[in-house]
Amino acid sequence: MSNKMWGGRFVSGPDAIMEEINASIGFDYKFASQDIRGSLAHVAMLAEQGIIEREAAAAITKGLEQVRHEIEAGTFTFSRALEDIHMNVESRLADIVGPDAGRLHTARSRNDQVALDFRLWVRDTIDTLDEQLRELQKALAERALDHAGSVMPGFTHLQSAQPVTFGHHLMAYVEMLGRDRGRFGDARRRLNECPLGSAALAGTSFPINREMTAKALGFDRPTANSLDSVSDRDFVLETLSAAAISAVHLSRFAEEIVLWSTPQFGFANLSDKFTTGSSIMPQKRNPDAAELVRGKTGRVIGALTGLLIVMKGLPLAYSKDMQEDKEGTFDALQSLSLCVAAMTGMVRDLVPDLKKMKAAAGSGYAIATDLADWLVRALNMPFRDAHHVTGRLVAMAADRKIALEKLSLADMQSVDQRITAEVHDVLGVDKSVKSRVSYGGTAPANVRTQARAWLKKIAREEAGTK
Ligand code: ARG
Repeated sequence: MSNKMWGGRFVSGPDAIMEEINASIGFDYKFASQDIRGSLAHVAMLAEQGIIEREAAAAITKGLEQVRHEIEAGTFTFSRALEDIHMNVESRLADIVGPDAGRLHTARSRNDQVALDFRLWVRDTIDTLDEQLRELQKALAERALDHAGSVMPGFTHLQSAQPVTFGHHLMAYVEMLGRDRGRFGDARRRLNECPLGSAALAGTSFPINREMTAKALGFDRPTANSLDSVSDRDFVLETLSAAAISAVHLSRFAEEIVLWSTPQFGFANLSDKFTTGSSIMPQKRNPDAAELVRGKTGRVIGALTGLLIVMKGLPLAYSKDMQEDKEGTFDALQSLSLCVAAMTGMVRDLVPDLKKMKAAAGSGYAIATDLADWLVRALNMPFRDAHHVTGRLVAMAADRKIALEKLSLADMQSVDQRITAEVHDVLGVDKSVKSRVSYGGTAPANVRTQARAWLKKIAREEAGTK
């Protein structure tokens, strides 16, 4: 049988393999609610403009509500022969309403329909992700406030560099997530234009009102070029870029959790809620959730790369290649959402071993910079000379296998006789972090201020959305 939606010039139906490669209903059923929202706005506009009769519009509206109800109730039968969500909905509408259902597709095409549905879906998804990311920021800032004064080693090259606070480290991710949310917000602002009414590619001869449908669907305005409207997917690409960057941030944090929870680091423990055991090695407690957050980042980046490649050779306007825009995007954004939820759980679950962190913060001569800075401040040495003197002191302490602060004053004076007993005021990890009061530095007072400021901002946002 030829297709009942567009089979006018067709004699036979598609080959089985054609049906299989062509159908998108297996995944675009996810657009059901967006598709119906779009059709409701479209039919209301058609009636308002006198393009279809009010009675027909009323019947279509009622029919669409019923279809929505059937889909929500799980009683709707999706058919692969009907290709996609658009034709599945319309076909069922025809069963319910009769021939007047065919008037819904006036001044519209599946090309602007799918562009609309996808924009609505991405917009909804961005809103959910934003809330989730905010929740993760909140969990991080709350823990940062508790640990504003907990000392841990800060690393560069994964070598102990200078002491920092655990709170400061957590707040670094709050900043990253803030920018991630900003990127999603930017993508949302740019995508918030309505493509409906662009029809197949050239617009329509019917006297439609695109302002009206744009407004009804919560868009800022209609899109300005019909060719662009049906053929662009940069709103998806931008969203996937934001998702890929965010996933990379989560992945770096996940990697740190993996490292911290090794017996070798021993900085933090996850509870049974976020770990698994080994079927052969009884002693093991594996940070699988963190590993999976790190691992899933691959698919998110893959979806972005995949869609960039799908789009790069397509002439204007729509080509069926573009049907490949959906599955990777669904998977990527759903994966990111799962990762954010898992990270939020782990941040709340993580128990830092403050003793081990502090001991590690003091090892590896991590306070050497504090000593050099003191030489500059107290003795007015040029920093380069101070660096050299400190290097010799570190070598002396390392030679004796003792900490810097364990060197006697006489030992220190043997390297530079101007050194006084006051030097001991700066030698120590707590003293070190307390002294880093420059804006953005790790001093506990700074961390508290930053954490409180974020928590206040988040509370304001939460109150605004409720
Ligand atoms: N299922 C299609 C897609 O996802 C809808 C648009 C079909 N348009 C067309 N001209 N065949 O892209």
